[in-house]
Amino acid sequence: MGNIIEVKSLEKIFANKSAIESVDFTVKKGEIFGFLGPSGSGKTTTIKILTGQLNPTSGMAKVFGEPVSKLKNPEYRQRFGVLTDNSGLYSRLSIYDNLKLYCKLYDAPLSKIDEVLAIVNLNEAKLKKVSTLSKGMMQRVTLARALIHEPELLFLDEPTSALDPTNSLHIHEGLRALNAKGTTIFLTTHDMQEADTLCDRIAFLNRGKIQLLDTPNKLKQSYTNSTMTVELTSGEKVTLPTGADGAHELFAYMKAEEIVTIHSNEPTLGEVFVQVTGRKLA
Ligand SMILES: Nc1ncnc2c1ncn2[C@@H]1O[C@H](COP(=O)(O)OP(=O)(O)O)[C@@H](O)[C@H]1O
Ligand SMILES: [Mg+2]
Repeated sequence: MGNIIEVKSLEKIFANKSAIESVDFTVKKGEIFGFLGPSGSGKTTTIKILTGQLNPTSGMAKVFGEPVSKLKNPEYRQRFGVLTDNSGLYSRLSIYDNLKLYCKLYDAPLSKIDEVLAIVNLNEAKLKKVSTLSKGMMQRVTLARALIHEPELLFLDEPTSALDPTNSLHIHEGLRALNAKGTTIFLTTHDMQEADTLCDRIAFLNRGKIQLLDTPNKLKQSYTNSTMTVELTSGEKVTLPTGADGAHELFAYMKAEEIVTIHSNEPTLGEVFVQVTGRKLA
């Protein structure tokens, strides 16, 4: 099927300051689509508009082929899940009891609770009160909650920002597994590695505008300087062009059996972001 999200000339102005302006993009069914941008670039504003929590100033935003204003309708609420930083968890209840309330709200079987807790690696902590949890654990509970009703579309606003690398990797695996089963994911992040490993396509967001949109590989390839670094047995590192110009020298090193490693010098997504926007991601 076609596009699950369609956005055209979207704009949001707060007081007299614009948070996003002339934003255009589409997300295809089955994609993991990322918004990569530094703090204040308009990521949360976009997610809030797409989930019906905030009205746009102008432009078009459609989800499931309908204007976002329709998302409050119960029929659509069942079809998407959201993770944002305002957790809305009941602090005096346990993790399990919080999720139980959600099961009731969304008409999901209680057996889903252990399933979603496994994805976020929290089964052992499920009887802990939310008030005793770390920020990272809270973030994992809110992610579990967003998955309870098996939504076909997930909106995740910086889903691993409070997590250590091990838990981030575990969440990434869980998200890939959900995606493989058909869940479309729209996520925001300021973590270039997260965007690179998870996303099928990435939009670079800078000061409320999309500056570039493509697959991670295409983004990196278009900004490569087409060189490789060859490490020699002598310890010396030599930079050569990857084209025909470098072939002769490379061949000579190979013949002399002097090569220890060869690395192509493609930029990281973070480096591409700095080149394109003149700003750092963090
Ligand atoms: N409720 C609000 N009132 C006024 N300005 C806001 C509000 N929410 C966000 N902004 C401003 O809009 C811009 C984008 O914010 P946000 O979408 O939260 O960015 P991000 O999620 O990428 O950090 C920022 O300049 C921020 O200060
Ligand atoms: Mg934000």
